[in-house]
Amino acid sequence: MDPRRIPLIAGNWKMHHGSASGIELAVAIAKVAKTIRGVEVVVAPPFTVLAAVAQSLEELSEQRGLLVGVAGQNLHHEAKGAFTGEVSASMLVDAGCRWAIVGHSERRQYFAESDALVAKKAQAALDNKLHPIVCVGETLDERSAGKTLEVVLRQLRAVLPTIVPARGAAVIAYEPVWAIGTGKVATPADAEEVHAAIRAELDAQGGAAFATATRLLYGGSVKPDNARELLAQPDVDGALVGGASLDVAQFGAIVQAAASIVRGA
Ligand code: 13P
Repeated sequence: MDPRRIPLIAGNWKMHHGSASGIELAVAIAKVAKTIRGVEVVVAPPFTVLAAVAQSLEELSEQRGLLVGVAGQNLHHEAKGAFTGEVSASMLVDAGCRWAIVGHSERRQYFAESDALVAKKAQAALDNKLHPIVCVGETLDERSAGKTLEVVLRQLRAVLPTIVPARGAAVIAYEPVWAIGTGKVATPADAEEVHAAIRAELDAQGGAAFATATRLLYGGSVKPDNARELLAQPDVDGALVGGASLDVAQFGAIVQAAASIVRGA
């Protein structure tokens, strides 16, 4: 982490939690967030519970704003229309979101989302004043073939023309596909190597101020016992957490790990 950027810990709940358990988890996370300074916390519940979760967090909010931000896990890039089953960026805003995950590898893999489509989604998010969390990452085959940086930079370049004008509003999440839900985590050195390459590309295409302002999250089997080492890397500005974000003790411990680095503890 770097003191010029506020660390961000985001929990991607994927297809887990209905309204009762989702509200309970979000409120428990807000209580942890209340005890912490200097770390931004976001949760991404399923669409059906977004509004209910955002509403409960709103009720707990303090004057300085929501203790925990709310993200959609996906959006449709069109503003409205005949797209059965889809949800637009403005609908996410209406439900109480300030964030949207776009281009998660599960969307790319199971729903055939291309780099170009992910860029359109990021644009729709920004047009609606949502912060996109743009996910990039290589598969195991791509890593084994020595193509990690090639793939990650290709995915990144597709979205850069969209996010550079938004300065630091967008966040990039590096999620190696082979590390998602597998318990196999990238070593801190491997994560830092990719994050540093992403940062260098942000600098080359968007300039130093843009590169310095943009937060880069690591995702893929982040747990309380590996979070600190990953977050201690200079170009890792936070985490996008899946499985461990469903448990307040684990997610809280990851938020605490970020906070302890901020404090220099
Ligand atoms: P896990 O933390 O369960 O590996 O999931 C990571 C992820 O995909 C977050 O978006």
